[in-house]
This record gives sequence, C-alpha cells and structure tokens, in this order.
Amino acid sequence: MTQEEQLLNYAAGVLGHDASGHSLDHIRRVVATTKTLLAQTPAADPIVAVAAAALHDTYDDKLVPDVAAAKARTVAAMTAAGLTARQRQAILAIIDHMSFKASLAGKQALSLEGQLVQDADRLDAIGAIGIARAMMYGGAHGSKLYDPALTPREHLDAAAYRGADSTIINHFHEKLLKLAAQMNTPAAKRMATNRHQVMTDYLAEFAAEWRGEK
Ligand code: ADP
Ligand code: NI
Repeated sequence: MTQEEQLLNYAAGVLGHDASGHSLDHIRRVVATTKTLLAQTPAADPIVAVAAAALHDTYDDKLVPDVAAAKARTVAAMTAAGLTARQRQAILAIIDHMSFKASLAGKQALSLEGQLVQDADRLDAIGAIGIARAMMYGGAHGSKLYDPALTPREHLDAAAYRGADSTIINHFHEKLLKLAAQMNTPAAKRMATNRHQVMTDYLAEFAAEWRGEK
C-alpha cells in the first residue's frame, strides 16, 4: 500500500459515516485537486501537500467528539505511514490553520503547501460539485430551497452562518460566491474562475425558472 493509500484508509475510518459533506469522496476530490495544483506549483512539497489534503478533516471539531484525542490518532497514523517528524509538524500546522473558521479568526500564515490544500478544499465548495454539496447539505438539514425575499442577503458575522432562517440558495450569497476571490495561488484562481461562472450561470437560470420565465 502506498503512503497516500494508508493515509486515505485512516481518513476513511474517521469520516466513513459522515453525512455533513465531509465524507471520503470529499477527501478524495481534495487530494485530486491538490495534485492538479501541485503540477502547476513546482516549488511545493507534494508529500506534505497530499498528506495534509488526505488528513485535513480528521480532527475537525464538527466531525469528532474529542479533538485532542483525534489529533493524537492522526499523528500516530502519520508516523505509521512513514512521515518524518518534520513532515508531521508541517502537516499539522496546515490542518490547524486552513479552516474557514481559522481564517476568519485572523490571517494565519499558511505554508505554500497549506495554501494549495486550502485552495483545493475551497474549490470543492464551488462549481458543479459545490452546487451539489450545498443541495445535499440543505436537504440533510431540512433547509428551505429558496426565498426570493431573502436573496441575496449576507450574514454580518461568522456566528450567524448556520442561521436556520437561511436558504440553500442564500448560502451561495453568504459564502460560495465569495470563495473565488479568496484563492491563494494562481493555479487555483484559474480553476475558481471557471467554477464561479458555473455557479453564477446556475443561479441566473434558477431565478428565471423560479419566476416561470423560461
Ligand atoms: P467546511 O468545514 O469545509 O468549511 P462546511 O461544513 O461549512 O464546510 O460545509 C460543508 C459543505 O456543506 C460545503 O459544500 C458547504 O457549502 C455546504 N454548506 C454548509 N453550510 C450550508 C448551508 N447553510 N446551506 C447549504 N450548504 C451548506
Ligand atoms: Ni474539507
């Protein structure tokens, strides 16, 4: 088994049953997108970037009951997969600082590898996949699809993000349409431009169909 497969197996064990949009298929896409970005970013270390992509959700407080214990298990899994102490430190620093919440709390200095993985994670929230994930998330949480009186409306603070009064379509305005401008790397900016266009085309079509215009 390759190191990447070992790390993905570990992530599968942690996230296998997750229904909040962080299942193993999200992890596999983030790894695949990280590799696409790596191919255009020769200065980045592929071992650290791919490992961080594979492990990035393994000790998220939304997904595990005990973050410290989960983090310790992630470290053990990295050691078992043959990652050195230096690589493990680099990977933990990425995972600790890349989340949307961490970036709202203040601009954290992310390594180049961390910038790629954060870009890949954010790319997975936009475009065709992003639309599908938002619909699945909203369905799982019983959200309303759309309310024309509410859209577009932006929440003023991060704490209001999970507001029950919002709608799936409003989530695009609250968050998804802002992500393209937040990409770190030129390679990700190019991919985000295309995915952003897919969403704006979709929202225009959605609104026209909602009004029965086409
Ligand atoms: P992350 O931890 O990766 O920042 P979240 O847990 O906030 O992501 O979201 C996981 C997925 O669910 C993303 O694709 C996101 O767009 C979607 N999502 C999160 N909140 C909502 C919401 N209120 N309505 C619709 N989709 C949502
Ligand atoms: Ni993720």
